[in-house]
Amino acid sequence: MTILVSGGAGFIGGNFVLDWLVQHDETVVNLDKLTYAGNLDTLQGLRGNNRHVFVHGDIGDRELVSDLLSMHRPRAVINFAAESHVDRSIHGPGDFIQTNIVGTFNLLEAVRGYWDGLAEDEKQGFRFLHVSTDEVYGTLSKDDAPFNELNRYEPNSPYSASKAASDHLVRAWHHTYGLPVLTTNCSNNYGPYHFPEKLIPLVILNALSGKSLPIYGDGQQIRDWLYVRDHCSAIRRVLEAGKLGETYNVGGWNEKPNLEVVHTICAILDELRPKADGSRYSDQITFVRDRPGHDRRYAIDARKLERELGWRPAETFETGIRKTIAWYLDNQDWVRNVTSGAYREWVGKQYEVEL
Ligand SMILES: NC(=O)c1ccc[n+]([C@@H]2O[C@H](COP(=O)([O-])OP(=O)(O)OC[C@H]3O[C@@H](n4cnc5c(N)ncnc54)[C@H](O)[C@@H]3O)[C@@H](O)[C@H]2O)c1
Repeated sequence: MTILVSGGAGFIGGNFVLDWLVQHDETVVNLDKLTYAGNLDTLQGLRGNNRHVFVHGDIGDRELVSDLLSMHRPRAVINFAAESHVDRSIHGPGDFIQTNIVGTFNLLEAVRGYWDGLAEDEKQGFRFLHVSTDEVYGTLSKDDAPFNELNRYEPNSPYSASKAASDHLVRAWHHTYGLPVLTTNCSNNYGPYHFPEKLIPLVILNALSGKSLPIYGDGQQIRDWLYVRDHCSAIRRVLEAGKLGETYNVGGWNEKPNLEVVHTICAILDELRPKADGSRYSDQITFVRDRPGHDRRYAIDARKLERELGWRPAETFETGIRKTIAWYLDNQDWVRNVTSGAYREWVGKQYEVEL
């Protein structure tokens, strides 16, 4: 059996592929465009593993995706591929519209063509799982209940609007064409292999290199943090037992203001890697102008996933953040390559592609 994963050289997709190949004996076809966020260094450990087939390409390339589907005949497609950084979506929304909306549309059409042609029993067993975000629900005030699956979509950034649009397409392909889809809406992830443009890896790496730790506005924006491998286990569970056409919120009940997250990281670094001059990492914190339209609070009610499918996260924020910091301390080569761009040269040579 085979599954096709898109965006499997990114942060969550990469963790998912690594975990999957340990836990299952199925082959993974990994389709990734290798944008700045895709990093084959994350998958280095899979070199020579014939159950991992990497394909450099775009989910929006319908012909390529159709060829891959008819060649590998996967029993499931899991769509991680996306432009994912809110700040980038503010500066240049075009790529977000192209990949997250048009790309998802083309992927759905290729998958529909393949699924239509399957034998009845294969058709029944097939799944298309779309990985999405809690940001589609908009923002919460301090006393609002966490988002559940019935909350109205109120996306506020070009990123979340493009993800919301993709969720609607996935829903419509189920209701109109009967495509067997599942959607997950997850809160903020953190963990190994996270590209250092996002808050947690950025703070760890800036702290270690003596740079300032930038905090947007007053730092009181609340996010609900989930360790990435818990997100991966939730996706596996939904793929295995989710009800067709349903959406599942995924979260870890770990609401924290950004400033508290940064102080926690600083305190753990003070303990694990004390500075030679005796100063504290939190001295490097600086407040910068807030992001336009910055959502104040996200929080996820993941009770449906727990009640119906028995999923619970394995990590608390306290255990997960320690593992994450330890990973960054132990994997300075990955960090150096990703920050210097060296891996891109390697990929260019390895795959003879222009990046
Ligand atoms: N990071 C989070 O906290 C979070 C939380 C909830 C949901 N999500 C969703 O999970 C998914 C993965 O997020 P991530 O943080 O790993 O993102 P990421 O930016 O780290 O990785 C995205 C991957 O997709 C690839 N890609 C981009 N455009 C592509 C295209 N057109 N065709 C094929 N591949 C393409 C990139 O090369 C990269 O490898 C996204 O859909 C995102 O919206 C992320």
